[in-house]
Amino acid sequence: MATPHIKAEMGDFAPAVLMPGDPKRAERIAHLLMDDAKLVNDVRGMLGFTGTYQGKPLSVMGSGMGQPSISIYATELFSQFGVERIIRVGTCGGIAPQVKVGDAVIGLGAHTDSAMNTYRIPGVHFSATASYELVRAAVDAAPEGKQVHVGTIISRDHFYLPTQTPIDVLSKYGVLGVEMEAAALYGVAAEYGKQALAVLTVSDHLMDHSADMSAEERETNFHTALDMAVAAALS
Ligand code: ADE
Repeated sequence: MATPHIKAEMGDFAPAVLMPGDPKRAERIAHLLMDDAKLVNDVRGMLGFTGTYQGKPLSVMGSGMGQPSISIYATELFSQFGVERIIRVGTCGGIAPQVKVGDAVIGLGAHTDSAMNTYRIPGVHFSATASYELVRAAVDAAPEGKQVHVGTIISRDHFYLPTQTPIDVLSKYGVLGVEMEAAALYGVAAEYGKQALAVLTVSDHLMDHSADMSAEERETNFHTALDMAVAAALS
């Protein structure tokens, strides 16, 4: 069976999927976590792998960047491949002052400037929230001594165009960070009655760019977030 963007069979994906944006990072995570990871999708280079972690089935697949891209993969995985939960593992830009580069953020809810959830429930401003069970499992797995923040994030469509809402207003409302996928992922999960979560590493800070990570550091500084994402995936 194939969907427009995934050439795989029912059963090729585990019920739990870790989803970084970058397909090459999906490959690295798959081989880091699993000795038996097998490639199950490579349509458009969006690599997906399935194996076992501590005896439990687990998949890792790239989402691409932005809300349309993750919506396509989440919809096909939930609706056609028996996937029950998707945990996004990615980076975010810090907004709140207490959030520092290198910290981890668990996205309890995701505001958005995207229209992707606007028309889901006519007459309603959709509330894009993570699944409580996954949030709880991720929080329970937060390592001692690591800064882990739990709260709202904002999923934006533009990376380069400045937000219409000043960063200090977002910060006043307690928004921890900005990324580009979670709100749509949470929307698709709600649509299919499935579970979703975003666990993010803060790679830069919008109020102070002095400590922003290099591309290389982004690759190596995500282990706290990854450990919590795996705990949530397999909970
Ligand atoms: N992901 C990491 N940093 C980001 C930023 N500043 N804006 C949007 N997405 C991000």
